[in-house]
Amino acid sequence: MPTPLIIDTDPGVDDAVALLLALASPEVEVRAVTTVFGNVPLPVTTANAARLLALAGRDDVPLAAGADRPLVHPQRERAESWHGADGLGGLAAGLPEPAAGPDPRGAVGLMADVLRAAPEPVTVVPIGPLTNVALLLAVHPELTARIGRIVAMGGSLGAGNTTGAAEFNVFSDPEAAHRVFTQAEVPVTLVPLDLTMRCLADRRWLADLAASGPRCAQLAAMIGHYHDAFRTRYGLDAVALHDALAVLEAVVPGTLRTTGLPLRVACDLGPARGVVVADRRPAAPGPQVHVALDADIPAVLSEILTRLHAWSAPPVSA
Ligand code: RIB
Ligand code: CA
Repeated sequence: MPTPLIIDTDPGVDDAVALLLALASPEVEVRAVTTVFGNVPLPVTTANAARLLALAGRDDVPLAAGADRPLVHPQRERAESWHGADGLGGLAAGLPEPAAGPDPRGAVGLMADVLRAAPEPVTVVPIGPLTNVALLLAVHPELTARIGRIVAMGGSLGAGNTTGAAEFNVFSDPEAAHRVFTQAEVPVTLVPLDLTMRCLADRRWLADLAASGPRCAQLAAMIGHYHDAFRTRYGLDAVALHDALAVLEAVVPGTLRTTGLPLRVACDLGPARGVVVADRRPAAPGPQVHVALDADIPAVLSEILTRLHAWSAPPVSA
């Protein structure tokens, strides 16, 4: 029986890889996709998610839009310089048009209905700002028992990518991240930059993706702009598929090696806003988040490529 999944996303190029990876993985069943502001504004993340589902031939998966801004303080910094103005490397318009508009229930309403309807625990995979998931936990405490686990991409225990020490998803809504990381009802696995920036898909990997069938070729083309940004900003001839690592962990639990740490998030308006503070003291108080700090990186990259290839390659004619 495949594990039911809800993906909350801000596509975003690495979100696109992550979403298609989930759809390519038979161990899970994507029951809903919900969108949040982040890399690009909410209307664009929502349109992109719809187009990606259409590309995958999965218009059957319900899609709903969520928060268009953080819970408390505005965070107007988007990530078009990384993902392109349209969020998908300038190629969103070339993707199939979705068959229908977003679900009128909205992200929290759709997530709640999926949780109510699921006979087995649902894995929730936030790969953008955590606003929608924080709202879900706040509005529907009665449904937390139906969430098997939360597997989130975000945060950093070391260097940041949006400020010196803050990562984009957490920086975009620190209050939401703090709410999710400090609750004890639902187990949380966090996949931070500390690992995702070590798990880089190089030029060879990208070439293999491009040669892995027509839909992977479209995906590889979308990554082009993102790749240019990594070259320009980091001097790396590779890309970090941040969100795909979180999805692979959700699909194959235990893929990433985690350490249990109580986390708190700096929510002041000073230079540390959005910084994730891990309490490494012995017997530190508070619920532990399973922080993914290590993995067999070649195996992870190979697994992502293998799954996408199997999904994209044209069926072998009988
Ligand atoms: O910091 C990386 C995260 O921010 C990824 O989820 C990327 O898509 C952006 O949302
Ligand atoms: Ca994302």
